Amino acid sequence: VSATGRGAADVLVDGETIAAVLAPGSTLLGHDLAASVDRVVDATGKYVVPGGVDAHTHMELPFGGTAASDTFETGTRAAAWGGTTTIIDFAVQRAGERVEDGLAAWHAKAAGSCAVDYGFHQIIGGVDEDSLAAMGWLVAEGITSYKLFMAYPGVFYADDAQILRAMQKAADLGLLTMMHAENGPAIDVLAAQLVAQGNTAPLFHGVARAWQLEEEATHRAIMLADVTGAPLYVVHVSAKQAVQQLAWARDAGKNVFGETCPQYLYLSLEEQLGAPGFDGAKWVCSTPLRSRAEGHQDHMWQALRTNDLQMVSTDHCPFCMKGQKELGLGDFRAIPNGIGSVEHRMDLMYQGVVTGEISLERWVEITSTTPARMFGLYGRKGVVAPGADADLVVYDPSGHTSIGIGATHHMNMDHSAWEGFEVDGHVDVVMSRGEVLVDPDGYHGRPGHGRYLRRDLSQYLV
Ligand code: URP
Ligand code: ZN
Ligand code: ZN
Repeated sequence: VSATGRGAADVLVDGETIAAVLAPGSTLLGHDLAASVDRVVDATGKYVVPGGVDAHTHMELPFGGTAASDTFETGTRAAAWGGTTTIIDFAVQRAGERVEDGLAAWHAKAAGSCAVDYGFHQIIGGVDEDSLAAMGWLVAEGITSYKLFMAYPGVFYADDAQILRAMQKAADLGLLTMMHAENGPAIDVLAAQLVAQGNTAPLFHGVARAWQLEEEATHRAIMLADVTGAPLYVVHVSAKQAVQQLAWARDAGKNVFGETCPQYLYLSLEEQLGAPGFDGAKWVCSTPLRSRAEGHQDHMWQALRTNDLQMVSTDHCPFCMKGQKELGLGDFRAIPNGIGSVEHRMDLMYQGVVTGEISLERWVEITSTTPARMFGLYGRKGVVAPGADADLVVYDPSGHTSIGIGATHHMNMDHSAWEGFEVDGHVDVVMSRGEVLVDPDGYHGRPGHGRYLRRDLSQYLV
């Protein structure tokens, strides 16, 4: 199955790459194919798809005095289990820090640890003369996208002047600007008022982060990008009104793109409201879960069909309840933001095929092909074709996957945001550059197999 169609074929892998995609029953220089190779993976009755590309993860991200609980080792192992063979993680530069040092720290965390291939985006948490000057250097390092935050004043926040200057530079260089589009200063006022009124429970995280403040920031990001001529990629979109901004901008010919995440398709504020005690903290993430009654989830699915949203990443940012999420027991503002999903994206999105929300081909497109094209990896990743890396997933549509802590969980977390989810499909075999990482016998991956990916410029620049 590819982003453009499906058909029966044999895939011949030679070393780390795909050598040929052949009609079933083809021979190899006159020899029977199956008799001429070292190993045959029988995928009869199953789908063979390009390995998943998760373009938004945060292994070991420092946040609110703690750090995301998956290391590059545990997080990429979980990714492999779930059929994701490439991640793009976010290296962090903070205000006052050199971009070069921020990136070096992320290389040090990931080198020798990853089970699957990895690239980096660069978070620029402090836009100043130094970090602006480093943007050209990033491209040479194979980092062709960077993220700015309109949220989190005092942590990563960029004001409009800083955003404009970074976008001007990005437009010159061909860098893709990734935007966390929420109005942080306004959110912080609302959050402080809620806490002062005694509304400290996890649910109020989502109340403070109103959809109006996502819509407004999305619009502002679009217009700032438009003034500079820079392409724009809005991360973790959860409000239907933010999607409507993207759709309007695209209809007006602007070069803007949007990503959503499985949590914004499946989970809602109502579930968080119904959770006992402090359990709602499991689902504290930013942007927040939105109200199902308001129709945000249905709108995300629709936007994936109409291409108003182009792809699905996880924003994998796991924190345990014990010692981490619990930091916010008396004040939701101290709950570290994030959900862990890197293991489940391929399955959760496949369930959208089962329920008829998206086609089989669209599943491949939004989980692998478009992420590879968007972030300069296409050709090596995102496609099953001669010359591509042999990153392959055999997916069994007659299999079944039960998600939860006692079931198929490999992420370094003491709970699952996806407890009890059932998927009518199963990741059977996962191959990364010709090495089988997962098969029905279990896990065969190892830290250090995964290599750093220098990325080309986005294919979506024009
Ligand atoms: O809640 C989230 N999304 N945590 C990770 C940081 C970010 O803004 O992507
Ligand atoms: Zn963000
Ligand atoms: Zn993120």
